[in-house]
Amino acid sequence: MQYNLAIIGSGPGGYVAAIRAAQLGQTVAIIEKYSTLGGTCLNVGCIPSKSLLDSSEHFFNAKHTFAEHGIKTGTLEVDIFQMITRKNVVIKKINDGINYLMKKNKITVYNGLGSFVDKNTIKITKTDATEENITAENIIIATGSKPTVLPFIPVDKKRIITSTEALSLSEIPKNLIIIGAGVIGAELGSVYARIGSKITFVEFADSMISTMDKTMGKELQRTMKKDFAPNFYFNHKVTKVENLGNEVIVIAESSGQTVELKGDYCLVCIGRKPYTDGLNAEGLGIEFDKGKIVINEATMQTNIPNIYAIGDVVRGAMLAHKASEEGVLVAEIIAGQKPYINYDLVPNVVYTWPEVASVGLTEEQLKEKGIAYKVGSFPFVALGRAVASGDTDGLIKVLSNSMTDEILGVHMIGARAADLIAEAVSAMEFRASCEDIIRTSHAHPTYTEAFREACMATNNTAIHI
Ligand code: FAD
Ligand code: NAI
Repeated sequence: MQYNLAIIGSGPGGYVAAIRAAQLGQTVAIIEKYSTLGGTCLNVGCIPSKSLLDSSEHFFNAKHTFAEHGIKTGTLEVDIFQMITRKNVVIKKINDGINYLMKKNKITVYNGLGSFVDKNTIKITKTDATEENITAENIIIATGSKPTVLPFIPVDKKRIITSTEALSLSEIPKNLIIIGAGVIGAELGSVYARIGSKITFVEFADSMISTMDKTMGKELQRTMKKDFAPNFYFNHKVTKVENLGNEVIVIAESSGQTVELKGDYCLVCIGRKPYTDGLNAEGLGIEFDKGKIVINEATMQTNIPNIYAIGDVVRGAMLAHKASEEGVLVAEIIAGQKPYINYDLVPNVVYTWPEVASVGLTEEQLKEKGIAYKVGSFPFVALGRAVASGDTDGLIKVLSNSMTDEILGVHMIGARAADLIAEAVSAMEFRASCEDIIRTSHAHPTYTEAFREACMATNNTAIHI
């Protein structure tokens, strides 16, 4: 065999697995069909969306909050071309970083479509149509996901678009209709609402980010209404979408009533599905369940023992950090170690402003499981640091076991929640109680105090409410 390990796909699952395996002494090859490494996350996902979120937030603040801080500005204008150019520069910097890491760890990179020939051989078809076969003792499938599309929504990538096109628009939509008020809808909706688009959400469920703790969706809707006054059509099922040239028509139904919406762009973000086109995984006999590769829960092996699968292509949350953790796990298993992932404590973050973050069980799940719990909430409006910065929207909600005081779930919406959640994840990993957090010193004035106060609130001992 040429390599100990070959990895198909260079997203946060694949490239992290490659580095960890190389650290553990394996000879490693990574195969990527695009010319740049980093996968969805770096090229058309996490990083570009956060770059545009940050740019649009600067504009929004300059327009709406600078004056309050005593900062005078002149007429403000968005240069969408520069915003997108900066986003591309950000991607390039991180692409260069991954290339450097591949070289540093002596990982061989192949650019081309990987396809199984047999359980140890991968054919690589390059862009110039030349082919090369490589062999490896073990193989990891890390081919990721792509947007879900529906047969009656003709995504033309011009006016009816997915997140990929929404990250590279050449003009600011005047009226952006967003089908799906989940994570992508909330994040990319925020980007365009902040820079002037009128936003309309059409959502199947009864709230935004409906799979998170219900309080989060409610509070996010409230702040969105306050900041951007979007139109919300909840409990609505889209039945038809049509591009009429410069106008898009969306037809949706709710309880027998039909609404017709008009916009210049329609963003379709109704979920993502695993991607295995061209891989010949079925041909090799790899088992699938509803499009996802079936794996052994403990080892991530497919039904062919030397072939593993990780990230968006398998069950579980479609998140970059989850894919990376699975990449590390498989590299360590191949090296004979016994690693473990605590899936119950994978945090979930929505990078709106205020940010939303959560870990552990929601209140709805606790009720469903019949676990007796206490709730402690602390609003950011009562936090000195938040008042000083003017970011008083949101709250932290802590759910703990009524009998033992163990923290079972933490749900927050507020400034810096994306970073604050890390304390909750660590605390829960060590099975901390609310009292453990209460007895831990938190610097003043910081946002972290809100978590401690929310823990106090579970016992009605919060100081500042
Ligand atoms: P991917 O990143 O999808 O990588 C798979 C790679 O495999 C791709 O580069 C693909 O070209 C390649 N490939 C596929 N088939 C082949 C083949 N046959 N041969 C060779 N190469 C192949 N997650 C977060 O945790 N935080 C976020 O903030 C976040 N933001 C997001 C924003 C958007 C707009 C989107 C769309 C997603 C976001 N995600 C976020 C989700 C995150 O991007 C994915 O969960 C993550 O990229 C999955 O990693 P992966 O390694 O499984 O697959
Ligand atoms: P999502 O699952 O978050 O939201 C999709 C929404 O579309 C749901 O609320 C669903 O009810 C709705 N929907 C489905 N079909 C519909 C229909 N026919 N009509 C109207 N509404 C419909 O999926 P989304 O936003 O597309 O994101 C895909 C995935 O990408 C996420 O699940 C997440 O894993 C990942 N992601 C993560 C981010 C982060 O971690 N910050 C950011 C962006 C994406």
